[in-house]
Amino acid sequence: MLQKIQELLQTVHAFEAQTKEEVEQFRLTYLSKKGELAQLFEAFKEVPNEQKKEFGKQLNILKQLIQDTLERIQAQFETNESVLQGIDVTLPEKPIMLGSRHPLSIVKNQIIEIFAKIGFIVSEGPEIEDDWHVFTALNFPLEHPARDMQDTFFIEKNPDVLLRTHTSSVQVRVMEHQKPPIRAIFPGRVFRNEAISARAHCIFHQVEGLYIDTNVSFADLKQTLLYFAKEMFGADTQIRLRPSYFPFTEPSAEMDISCSICGGKGCNVCKYSGWVEILGCGMVDPNVLDNCSIDSKIYSGFAFGMGVERIAMLKYQVKDIRLFFENDVRFLRQFEAAL
Ligand code: DAH
Repeated sequence: MLQKIQELLQTVHAFEAQTKEEVEQFRLTYLSKKGELAQLFEAFKEVPNEQKKEFGKQLNILKQLIQDTLERIQAQFETNESVLQGIDVTLPEKPIMLGSRHPLSIVKNQIIEIFAKIGFIVSEGPEIEDDWHVFTALNFPLEHPARDMQDTFFIEKNPDVLLRTHTSSVQVRVMEHQKPPIRAIFPGRVFRNEAISARAHCIFHQVEGLYIDTNVSFADLKQTLLYFAKEMFGADTQIRLRPSYFPFTEPSAEMDISCSICGGKGCNVCKYSGWVEILGCGMVDPNVLDNCSIDSKIYSGFAFGMGVERIAMLKYQVKDIRLFFENDVRFLRQFEAAL
């Protein structure tokens, strides 16, 4: 009987079913009332008591193998059938939806490329900053409203830890660690404690630019920005600089471009003025250079800062800044062609 069990173990182990009928045949042969297993259990009753342990063990192994094998070959036909039932295997595959680059990344990369062509490299700084890099080194007076809790996200336990409100902080970090000439742009995310609306968000992106060398003049700044505006918005674009104030530049200006939507004729984007503001700029204040251990008697330079969302909104005529953060694919998919 032991030998019979051994033989069956080998046969069952090697069993493969080619058709559903063979699966049923297997079940009948081994598991039906008169099948092999039932017969063996019948014969087991006759086995002398002292051999029962040994026989019982082998018999149970065989029983388990038969049950497992039946499950295995049944499953094989079930899956095959469900694959073939009701599915036309000649149909083309469902198209795979490819992701696309986010419009803010597209615009940021364009800005980087435009400045790379005239020798500006890219540097980055931390989003979690300290007072020195965001305000003090940049010549912000102690009572300046930008330090106010209303604008800046401070960490409650330590007011010296804050989320940067502009990427101008990277200027300071770069000047502290590099010797002029410096020609670099600093893209990054900034944070302001502002109510979210169609025009403002508490998180947005800026690109800051910095050029420090001997004999850098306002004419260099103007020419650099004119080049940028033409590359970004088209060769017909004009610029105008309006006097302004920033603590870290002297003189300071804001730059407008001729409205890229109406070409300067007047529309609701430029509020019928023909001009739209796109950035702030100026000659780096000598105090800032000195704060960063750069000798303001030898070196001068210019800086500028622009909002990536603002440029993207103008370029793609996006009317609500919140669309950039909602990640609705119906919005995002429209920029695929712009990759
Ligand atoms: N940091 C300014 C802002 O966030 C933008 C800016 C203005 C940057 C003038 C500059 C600059 O470098 O010269 O509003």
